[in-house]
Amino acid sequence: MTLRFNNISKNFTVNHQPMTVLKDINFSLQPGELVAIIGASGCGKSTLLRLAAGLDQADRGTITVNDAEMKGLPPQISLVFQEPRLFPWLTTAGNIHLGMEQTRLTPAEKDQRTHHFLAMMGLTDFADAYPHQLSGGMAQRVAIARGLVAGPEILLLDEPFGALDALKREQLQDMLLTVRRQSSLSILMVTHDVEEALYLADRVIIMSPKPGRIRAIHPVTLQVPRDRTDSALQLQRRQLCELL
Ligand SMILES: Nc1ncnc2c1ncn2[C@@H]1O[C@H](COP(=O)(O)OP(=O)(O)OP(=O)(O)O)[C@@H](O)[C@H]1O
Ligand SMILES: [Mg+2]
Repeated sequence: MTLRFNNISKNFTVNHQPMTVLKDINFSLQPGELVAIIGASGCGKSTLLRLAAGLDQADRGTITVNDAEMKGLPPQISLVFQEPRLFPWLTTAGNIHLGMEQTRLTPAEKDQRTHHFLAMMGLTDFADAYPHQLSGGMAQRVAIARGLVAGPEILLLDEPFGALDALKREQLQDMLLTVRRQSSLSILMVTHDVEEALYLADRVIIMSPKPGRIRAIHPVTLQVPRDRTDSALQLQRRQLCELL
């Protein structure tokens, strides 16, 4: 699936003042591609993902999915929010199940997929726990599992690994690369971690604030599999940090 942003602009009103949050956003996410977005707080990254998920409308421009203008909430696109947003009255397994509500999977298939993603996220022992019994990083992993469980074609991730310790973060980065290798999933991922962007992405979009625009699109030409400590990766990290 190709997700394309054509001249997208978005305004909000804050304190009776109109504010342009996104301006002239143009780019497309290609099938199977992983694109990372980095940029200052408030430059419109989450807003861009909400538009891509069909949760909000742009004021100018269009978003297309395989060249057709997006209408409603496309079922093949899944968004993992910046906060976990779990339902407090549902268990971990119940929250993951919700990700399959719009599918025609049988109850047995849903259970099987839930078990698979619980194991992948290291949450098997917490299947019956409620959100208030989870740590922040666990809750975030439940949210990622819920986003993946229905097998979307496009996954939108908003700083998915921010609440995790360094070791878990690296494990889940590698999990994401594995999921991607095993499917044709395209991923658009917001991160504040430049090293993470370079480790995972095919391209990195650097946004600038007020109004949020695309400042540069950096193709990551590093060989795969990548090494976080690779000197070429670290050199690009310093170059991108200078742009931010
Ligand atoms: N529903 C809304 N109504 C009014 N203003 C909003 C709304 N949603 C976002 N904004 C404003 O839009 C701007 C961009 O917000 P957004 O959440 O997209 O930023 P962000 O780049 O994701 O920031 P962060 O890195 O802190 O998550 C901010 O100035 C915010 O105040
Ligand atoms: Mg955000």
